[in-house]
Order: sequence, then C-alpha cells, then structure tokens
Amino acid sequence: MRVAIPRERRPNERRVAASPETVKKLKGLGLDVVVESGAGAEASFPDGAYAEAGARIEVEPAAVFGDADLVLMVQRPQDKAEGGPDALHLLKPGAVLIGMPAPHGSRDWLRACAAAGVTAVAMELMPRISRAQSMDVLSSQANLAGYRAVIDAAYEYGRAFPMMMTAAGTVAPARCLVMGVGVAGLQAIATARRLGAVVSATDVRPAVKEQVQSLGATFVAVEDEEFRQAETAGGYAKEMSPGYRARQAELIAATLRKQDIVITTALIPGRKAPVLIDAAMVASMKPGSVIVDLAVEQGGNVEGARPGEVVVTPGGVRIVGHLNVPSRIAMDASALYARNLFKFVELLVNRQTGAVALDWNDEIIKATVLTHGGRIVHPAFADADPAAPPSSAAPVSA
Ligand code: NAI
Repeated sequence: MRVAIPRERRPNERRVAASPETVKKLKGLGLDVVVESGAGAEASFPDGAYAEAGARIEVEPAAVFGDADLVLMVQRPQDKAEGGPDALHLLKPGAVLIGMPAPHGSRDWLRACAAAGVTAVAMELMPRISRAQSMDVLSSQANLAGYRAVIDAAYEYGRAFPMMMTAAGTVAPARCLVMGVGVAGLQAIATARRLGAVVSATDVRPAVKEQVQSLGATFVAVEDEEFRQAETAGGYAKEMSPGYRARQAELIAATLRKQDIVITTALIPGRKAPVLIDAAMVASMKPGSVIVDLAVEQGGNVEGARPGEVVVTPGGVRIVGHLNVPSRIAMDASALYARNLFKFVELLVNRQTGAVALDWNDEIIKATVLTHGGRIVHPAFADADPAAPPSSAAPVSA
C-alpha cells in the first residue's frame, strides 16, 4: 500500500500532513511513503529529512497522486479551476483521501469525490470520545491557534504584558479578556498568564468556569438559569436567547473598557460565529488596545474585523484578523496534525495483511467518512446526491 503526502497549494497554508517522524511510523506499518518535493518546506521539514525517514521524493503531482492508496493532506486539494493539479482525476478509484476538507461548505466537491470513486475522510468530524482524542485535529490545531493569538496580540501591542518594576518606573501589567473558552480559549488564557497579564474570560458554557479559575483567571458571565442550562450533550455551545445575549453584552461592554488585549474564539458548530463585540464596544476601548478575532473566518466575533487584515480603528484600537492561524506556527501545527493522521491511519491498516480496511461498525469511521464506493455515505451530507445538479448554496462551515 502506498501513502502520498502532497504539497499544500492553498493560499496561507504552510502546514504539511506528515512529519519525518510520522513518515518513519507509516513505514513501520509496512506502507510505502511518497512525499511531493517541497511539501514540508514551509513547516521547516526539508525533502532530505523525509528521504532520511524512508520516503521517496517525487516532483510531478501525477507521480504523487497516481499510485496512492492513501493520500494525507491538510486542506482539500485544489482542482484545475483553482490552479491545482486536479487530484481527484489523478487519483485511482478506491483511493482514500484524508484531510480537513471543510465538508459543510463543499457539496459540489463531495459529489466530485463520489463521482471519482474516491473515499474522502473529514478529520474535522472526528467524534469527541476519549478513544479518538489522539485523532482530534480540531483540538490539536485550536490549541496552537490559542497560543499564537496571544503572541500575535503581544506583537501588535505597543506595551509590555508583564508588570515590570524598573529604576525608570513601573510598567503596569496588561489586562487580557478571553471570550470563548474552548480549546483555543483555554490555551490563550494559559499563554497570557505565562506572559504576565491579568486575565479574565467569558463563555456561555457553565462547565468552563472552574477551568478558567484553575488557570488563575477570573470568570465573567451573566450566571442566570439559561446560562446554567446552556451546555448541550456534545459539550458544545448552543445559541443563546436574544435576552441573554443583551444582558451578556452589557456586562461585557463594562468589562471591555478596562481591557488592553481581547482574544475572541467563540464558535457554534455549523453556524456563523456570534458577534460578541460591536462597533460601539470597540470604540469604547483605549487607544493601543488589541483585539484578536480567531473566529474571523467563520464570520467573526468582532464587528469591523476583516479576514487577513489588521484593522486600526479611528480610536486607535487594532483588530487582528489573521487567516489560518495554526499555519502561523506551521512546524508544531504540522507535527501534531501529522500525529493525529498517523493514529487514524493506524486504525485503517490491517496489521496482518497490510491492507486498508474500513470497519463500518466503528463510530470513528462512521463519523468521518464522507464518500465511498461512488456514493456520499455520510448521513449529514447524503442529500448531496452525485446525480443531482451542482448547488450554488454555500452553507457556513463549522
Ligand atoms: P468551539 O471552537 O466550538 O467554541 C469555542 C468556545 O466558544 C466554546 O467554549 C463555546 O462555548 C464558546 N462560545 C460560543 N458562543 C459563545 C458566546 N455567545 N459567548 C461566549 N462564548 C461562546 O469549542 P471547542 O474548542 O471545540 O470546545 C468545545 C468543547 O469540547 C469544550 O468543552 C472542550 O473542552 C470539549 N472538547 C472535548 C474533547 C473530548 O472529549 N475528546 C476534545 C476537545 C474538546
């Protein structure tokens, strides 16, 4: 069986789906590994390191995709219209394409995978059960994004984070508010604390209050009955009522005026991100304050945030909207993502025969496989029939 690691070609993507370490492990499973030349260059993994780990380096995309049984990618491959090598047509029917294809906004692509006979797997649909923790790509990447958001804020901030008592006088510590305390938010709290900031945090899920406090931060939220009921079975947030949102906004508005740094990470799976900071709240902040909107690609938590830009408001507040934040820490993001993928591949490969086998009774397989045997098999996308005409609707990605 052959595993291919293509070079990522989408804008702002610096990650790669295998590291030299995981190439060695894939070889250990008895797989042949082909790496496209330059695949790891932007994550500081040169071709030579992959070759040393036992991979064959190929330059031509046809040689990378053509004979592959398994293809490991970060994002969905580009087609011809997007300037890519048209992977779906290079792949042989039955090949398994594993990555983070953002399937919620990609019905036409799902149909194309099914039509090509490709088995497409979406790692971002990994169920959050303890057996799948080592394959949880959303967590491995969100953790690094939370870290990097604070580093990006520190870079944009014209002052220091920690309190410093010097002969020339005292520097006050930065006050930092983290909004949304999932995986990214928890790491943002921990990172801001390590840098010496005074940190507070808010979320609509009651379960996070203790976690926030255990990291040495203060919890800020309207703690009414709706708040206490707010957690859904999967541990994700649900959308709050307009009344709750208004009360929360009032509390946040009062808190924001005192902040120097704000990191927003609030997401609701499958929906547009909630707007937590409106233009008036931004205007109430001190000149020199920095907001990093980690939800900018899902519609944004901050009014005025622009994807891919650092906006400076007339009041001197900087709103940072970097795209693909995990890619800004590409070496670690790749190394962790590669390990997530290796664990998944380990699950697919039969150790006795060395063949790839999908166990349809396994909830990990059922939750992540999108297309197989010429059909869209995932129940959440099954209405996207390959025979149906292409849709122009683009639902918001989770
Ligand atoms: P996420 O990326 O979906 O959302 C980030 C945060 O935004 C969440 O904490 C959410 O409650 C919050 N949020 C949504 N609307 C908000 C609003 N209006 N105001 C303030 N905050 C708002 O979350 P993520 O990082 O995917 O984590 C979701 C949960 O899953 C967490 O409890 C996390 O600890 C848990 N988890 C469980 C795993 C497992 O059991 N294997 C693995 C990873 C995470």
